[in-house]
Amino acid sequence: SGQEKINTDIFTLTRYLNEEQTKHKEASGDFTLLCHALQFSFKSIAYYIRRASLINLSGLAGSSNITGDDQKKLDVIGNDIFIAAMRSSGRVRVLVSEEEEEAIIFEDNPNARYAVMCDPIDGSSNLDAGVAVGTIFGIYKLEEGAKGSKEDLLKPGTELVAAGFTMYGASAQLVLTMKGGAVQGFTMDNALGEFILTHPNMQMPKKRAIYSCNEGNTKYWEEPVLEWVNSLKQAEKPYSARYIGSMVADAYRTLLYGGIFAYPADKKSPKGKLRILYECAPMAMVFEQAGGLAVNSKMQRMLEVVPEGIHDRSGIFLGSYDEVQKVIDIHKKHG
Ligand code: AHG
Ligand code: MN
Ligand code: MN
Ligand code: MN
Repeated sequence: SGQEKINTDIFTLTRYLNEEQTKHKEASGDFTLLCHALQFSFKSIAYYIRRASLINLSGLAGSSNITGDDQKKLDVIGNDIFIAAMRSSGRVRVLVSEEEEEAIIFEDNPNARYAVMCDPIDGSSNLDAGVAVGTIFGIYKLEEGAKGSKEDLLKPGTELVAAGFTMYGASAQLVLTMKGGAVQGFTMDNALGEFILTHPNMQMPKKRAIYSCNEGNTKYWEEPVLEWVNSLKQAEKPYSARYIGSMVADAYRTLLYGGIFAYPADKKSPKGKLRILYECAPMAMVFEQAGGLAVNSKMQRMLEVVPEGIHDRSGIFLGSYDEVQKVIDIHKKHG
């Protein structure tokens, strides 16, 4: 009839969260409320990133954070937005952020049962060039009787109840996974102001000839890493190199297209660069639940690593099952 087929039954994040809550009869609704606060922080951060050049939000804040990064104005604002959203949800007791030296304990929420970790703006060195950045998050549930302290986050990633990230790219993409569940991808519809389920049950390709790492670090790399990257370049059909420099954007592409993202520990950064709680562990959970793998530079499963401090770092290899297995095999050979 020439009439356009319009979807009048859209699957929003709100609807997804409602359905998940209904599936769990024992659920109090606290987790759902926490997720609503999370999605608001993503919308809000996306809004300021898009307007940054117009409202004097480009450039440095003039301060640095505990892991030594120069803070951008948007690092500070993203952090403030995230903290306010978590506090006002009333459901978060402890919050760890890249931009906060200490864990924040929300004294106003004494009965809240969740601990959240976040990288408010990942890839912030890319901000002023308008390149995709993101927010990474992970959620733990406090143990029975826990009063709420940083110890509630110094746990293996296997205990995460949920994790994910939002990438602020051509559109805002939210990737969310809950313990034991599938990986769900949502796209922000700016007109509706809603995240729409556009990538249900994401499963990543088992292999793909794309690698993503900062090769400017080659002179610091250890032997197995050198051998691995060289083997990709010398493969019968050599791999493609893709590196954005925002973990979220590199990881999102890797999740969709397959391949591998790596930030190995090296001679200059023997503990690696990326931080376990709010970069490595949440990404590892997403990748494993999408059928991929994630290991550290000692070839241990990333999700089993227990950090000693909230800002501890790790080397990481993250990607398609077969691609990460190649890295493991070469490291094993070197013993
Ligand atoms: P952040 O902007 O949150 O501090 O994270 C930066 C991280 C990550 O996004 C990216 O993968 C990596 O740093 C890039 O590091 P190089 O500039 O050393 O390649
Ligand atoms: Mn930083
Ligand atoms: Mn980061
Ligand atoms: Mn950051």
